[in-house]
Amino acid sequence: MDTKTIKNQFKKSIDKYSENAVVQGIIANEIATYFSDSSFNSILEIGAGSGLLTQRLASACKYKEFYANDLVEKSELYVKKYVPNVKFFAGDFRKIKFNKKFDLIVSNAVFQWYENLDKIFEQCKNLLQPNGILAFSTFSPENFKEIKSITGLSLEYKSPAELTKLLEKDFEIIKIENTEHKMNFDNPLKILAHMKNTGVNSLSETHWGVKEVKDFCDKYIEKYPDLPLTYSPIIVIAKLK
Ligand SMILES: C[S@@+](CC[C@H](N)C(=O)[O-])C[C@H]1O[C@@H](n2cnc3c(N)ncnc32)[C@H](O)[C@@H]1O
Repeated sequence: MDTKTIKNQFKKSIDKYSENAVVQGIIANEIATYFSDSSFNSILEIGAGSGLLTQRLASACKYKEFYANDLVEKSELYVKKYVPNVKFFAGDFRKIKFNKKFDLIVSNAVFQWYENLDKIFEQCKNLLQPNGILAFSTFSPENFKEIKSITGLSLEYKSPAELTKLLEKDFEIIKIENTEHKMNFDNPLKILAHMKNTGVNSLSETHWGVKEVKDFCDKYIEKYPDLPLTYSPIIVIAKLK
């Protein structure tokens, strides 16, 4: 998936994101709760978006400096509500030179967009202080399994075992947890709207016309009459070796 498409989708959905991203809110809570009463000199948040994790983390722990980043410039306005003195860097985090090392790097629901996670983990390693912590969430191959079975569309999600293999070269894994959350809808169109409002129609780069939407709705109702949508998030807390 190219970064321009990802940016455009999130630019459109950022104002509706927090009220629609129910599962992302639950995992943001879990990550923040893990750091309750911890203290850090410096935190970096990658892909802060509308600040779901920023808000929870900033009130859960103590910190001296908070750096945040997102592809979408408007994210800075949201993040500043929760961390007024944040140092915000707009752009692709993989290309930004931070010129500093952090005690904690966090990221909620961002890394699933990228296939070369080995490179991302290498970058995080280089940005962490000795004993620094990387805490992130992503999604497993079970994520949106209904959408995949109907349309064949899916991101290249990694399993917990694949993530462990990639991380354990440089990190000690403190926690890796895969959970399942089912949302139910009363109309397949609401599933499409839900995905759009959480920036997820980037699964497909082609525009759907009336026929594609109708086919999708008919197949969904036939195969999944209760209209579920499965989220399968993975939370990882890892410490630099
Ligand atoms: C699913 S949203 C998650 C937002 C937020 N982390 C949360 O807790 O809800 C993914 C966010 O990652 C951002 N993003 C995706 N790729 C990025 C990249 N390469 N560099 C910076 N931000 C990125 C998107 O713009 C979007 O705001």
